[in-house]
Amino acid sequence: MVKFVSVALFLAVLSLCIACQSVPAGGAGDGQPEPALSEEEGRELYERKCGRCHDPVPEGRYTARQWAGFVRAMAVRSNLTSAQREQLTNYLAEHARRSN
Ligand code: HEC
Repeated sequence: MVKFVSVALFLAVLSLCIACQSVPAGGAGDGQPEPALSEEEGRELYERKCGRCHDPVPEGRYTARQWAGFVRAMAVRSNLTSAQREQLTNYLAEHARRSN
């Protein structure tokens, strides 16, 4: 009997976990890759989040690697969720300066 209860409990917890994984974006930090943003969504997010204190720095000014560092440094200032952080990093990488 005890064994049955714990198995039932295990299954209940398991199905909860599966349920919460199907919740779309915003599930920050669950290790799931975030869906890529469209061109406009990326720009909108960038300008909204990164243009509050200074004009958004032109995407082509830095390389993808440099952008990753800036987003990390500015993430706290911008109140980014980890999903937004990943999406911004991807958006900037796509528009970054090509050469190193
Ligand atoms: C709360 C204000 C604030 C927000 C929001 C903010 N920044 Fe900044 N940012 C600054 C300040 C202040 C500086 C000046 C240098 C410093 O203090 O590091 C700066 C400097 C920079 C620089 C280097 C200077 C340059 O012109 O090249 C980059 C790149 C940058 N920010 C990118 C970003 C990105 C990307 C975001 C969004 C993820 C962002 N910032 C959001 C305040 C902010």
